[in-house]
Amino acid sequence: MKETVPVIAVDGPSGVGKGTLCRSLAEALGFHLLDSGSLYRLTALAAARAGLRDDDAGGLAQVAATLDVRFDSGEDDLVVLLAGEDVTAAIRTESAGMAASKVAIVPEVRAALLQRQRDFRRAPGLVADGRDMGTVVFPDAPLKIFLVASPAERARRRHKQLSEKGVDANLAALETEIAERDARDAGRASAPLKPAPDAVILDTDDLGIDAVRDRALALVAGRLHVPGQQDRS
Ligand code: DC
Repeated sequence: MKETVPVIAVDGPSGVGKGTLCRSLAEALGFHLLDSGSLYRLTALAAARAGLRDDDAGGLAQVAATLDVRFDSGEDDLVVLLAGEDVTAAIRTESAGMAASKVAIVPEVRAALLQRQRDFRRAPGLVADGRDMGTVVFPDAPLKIFLVASPAERARRRHKQLSEKGVDANLAALETEIAERDARDAGRASAPLKPAPDAVILDTDDLGIDAVRDRALALVAGRLHVPGQQDRS
């Protein structure tokens, strides 16, 4: 039974560090990983390549339903293949994130991606990274974490991440983009970004990556029985 496979739902706004946390949780627990944002990013990329407009709900949903995607584990990141082509870098740009946030408004797109996301739920468990993991995709997840951090702190982290990759970015522009994406993701009618009523809110403004990971692992130990992990509950 799929429903007995534990899911750790990790939601929160752009740039809050969900990706980093989810990768390290999945690695520590030996769980599968769902980067749901990449499905929205891929949908936006494939739709742009097909010349679809933002308001073509039927066309966008068709693209989402028929995405030919494969995730391979690369050296330090997931390699994403769209119809066999490596699009890892293409979907990671700021503009790809913005385009994803636009197609994510369309309820038909969300519906088309729902089952594809649920199919990632496989033993021994899943760490699911997104905006609506705890509210819509895995409402029965035994652990839901909602990460928050101020837009200024998220822009600062994103800026650092980009400079480490050698990408020159403007801090003020990043903060504006983050605020714009927040408004769209939280303001949309269909599956808006918000914590599930039973989510644990983790404010990461003053926490480093390791501290966030330790808090999350303590929550896992209290809520989930993971073979091989110390059960501290
Ligand atoms: O997590 P991310 O930055 O890769 O997500 C890109 C966009 O996709 C985000 O701004 C909103 C959308 N998204 C969504 O609506 N629901 C999800 N579960 C994941 C992402």
